[in-house]
Amino acid sequence: MQVELRILRFDPERDTAPHWEAYTVRAEPMDRVLDLLHKVKYEQDGTLTFRRSCAHGVCGSDAMLINGRNRLACKIRVDQLGRRITVAPLPGLPVVKDLVVNMDGFFAKYRSVNPFLVTETPPPARERLQSPAERARFDDTTKCILCGACTSSCPSFWAQPGYVGPAAIVNAHRFIFDSRDEGGEERLEILADKDGVWRCRTIFNCVDACPRGINITRAILEVSSAIVERQG
Ligand code: SF4
Ligand code: F3S
Ligand code: FES
Repeated sequence: MQVELRILRFDPERDTAPHWEAYTVRAEPMDRVLDLLHKVKYEQDGTLTFRRSCAHGVCGSDAMLINGRNRLACKIRVDQLGRRITVAPLPGLPVVKDLVVNMDGFFAKYRSVNPFLVTETPPPARERLQSPAERARFDDTTKCILCGACTSSCPSFWAQPGYVGPAAIVNAHRFIFDSRDEGGEERLEILADKDGVWRCRTIFNCVDACPRGINITRAILEVSSAIVERQG
């Protein structure tokens, strides 16, 4: 079949503003949008710029706005979208070129919540043990691939770019509820800030956008409850 692919293009060395360009691409129903972008790049316009690496929904590098929703280009198929497909960069983040956005601020927020295991007590002789039930407590939030689809779909983040955003909270949750971790207090302190969890207005765009199906609003609620319990 033929698909009309409209892509929001922007070259900072040439353009003063982003503009749409349309391409007609031969496609199979099971092709992913990433396959179509490759066809445009290899067969029609080598200057088209986008990020990708694994092509299998693992690395998180090709999140973009596809038919009005943040998704991974390597996961969404033509048969799920139809013959007219629009692709734009992730909203709310500065565009570097075409579909590539600057993720520096996103990763700075991720780093701000100490997304690593913090321990104060001396290590045991062999390993820090954890029961299956303790591991299950934070299993959902271990699935994050840091694609940015959630934070960039959040109207609260668009309105308040200082908001730490759902991705950072998800990654804080992953450690706060890890029974081996001893840095939860500091993370809760960070997320109790005015740009922390209270900026969430339970809009749910983040949940719709997450390619890993993480229950982000539940994670945010659990972190907010932990902050309230700590203050009480
Ligand atoms: Fe992407 Fe989901 Fe992680 Fe957000 S929580 S960065 S949408 S994988
Ligand atoms: Fe934003 Fe998700 Fe909260 S879209 S407002 S972080 S529920
Ligand atoms: Fe790695 Fe899509 S290219 S998630």
